[in-house]
Amino acid sequence: MNVLVTGGAGYIGSVVVARLLEAGHEVTVIDDLSTGHRDAVPDDARFVLERVQHVSDTLGRHSFDGVVHLAASSLVAESITDPQKYETNNVAGTRGLLEALRTAEIPKIVFSSSAAVYGEPERVPIEEDAPTVPLNPYGSSKLSVDRMLDAEAARHGIAAVSLRYFNVAGSYAVLGERHSPETHLIPLTLRAALDSRPATVFGDDYLTPDGTCIRDYIHVVDIADAHLLALDAASPGTWRVFNLGNGEGFSVREVIAAARRVTGLPLAESVTARRAGDPAVLVASSERARKELNWAPKKPRLDEMVDDAWQFLHRGQR
Ligand code: UFG
Repeated sequence: MNVLVTGGAGYIGSVVVARLLEAGHEVTVIDDLSTGHRDAVPDDARFVLERVQHVSDTLGRHSFDGVVHLAASSLVAESITDPQKYETNNVAGTRGLLEALRTAEIPKIVFSSSAAVYGEPERVPIEEDAPTVPLNPYGSSKLSVDRMLDAEAARHGIAAVSLRYFNVAGSYAVLGERHSPETHLIPLTLRAALDSRPATVFGDDYLTPDGTCIRDYIHVVDIADAHLLALDAASPGTWRVFNLGNGEGFSVREVIAAARRVTGLPLAESVTARRAGDPAVLVASSERARKELNWAPKKPRLDEMVDDAWQFLHRGQR
């Protein structure tokens, strides 16, 4: 397949690109490098420095079989202080992309949606038909795009798939998490270990066994591979949605304990106030992805994800 990957210079996007190339696909990346890194795009991919809003020129020059759409603003806290940015980049940006796909007659799209669409779940593990009540504009923007894709499939016949990621972790070869600012628990905790600082725990008064938030961590390679399966499974005129997680939750304290095991360093903890908008427990049911996409995580162990993130951090130190 000839595939366009928007946001292919980002953490998850770059691994999607690497796995597509390994599977023999032709790949073009479009990324404005606002958060991505040019050196994260594998040499075998074509690179176009451009915003998604201006994608039509690129679409006109190549006949793509499908698009994997990851380009987005993705900081939950920022979305609360600057919701307009999320409306513009995530919602309006995707609307423009869909219009361009229609004009260029590109038949399929796989979209990076998020567990953030569910908000505080009524039941865990979370299934795809659970109520969607996002707690922040980031989650709302992802939900708006999911709905847009549903409508686009029904009205214009595109084949659309939304993949709702839970907590993505780990690294793949030279590709890993390089966010600025970094907000995610695993890289922040490993950085703290390296700098001999305590790891920060945002709240230990949640209604969970150890009082800290529980999340479902999923390896970035397993996430990436789901995109390849979704491209194959997408069918015209249909929008399909899949949760991607391991179905097992780990608390913040359990993640910090994993970081101690992996690094061998005596990592202390410092408990601070809860972070606004954090649900207590987010754990996925990925039964649908397992059955319908034939997807099965190959790296489900938390320690392996933390170790891969640790190896990546070390590589950056050299
Ligand atoms: N946390 C800490 N200390 C830190 C960083 C995080 O205790 O230094 C906690 C958070 O409060 C949360 C858990 O660790 O309970 C995981 O936090 P992350 O920031 O790593 O991940 P989130 O669960 O907030 O975010 C993920 C995705 C988002 C998505 C969100 C949906 O990264 O894109 O899930 O809730 F929006």
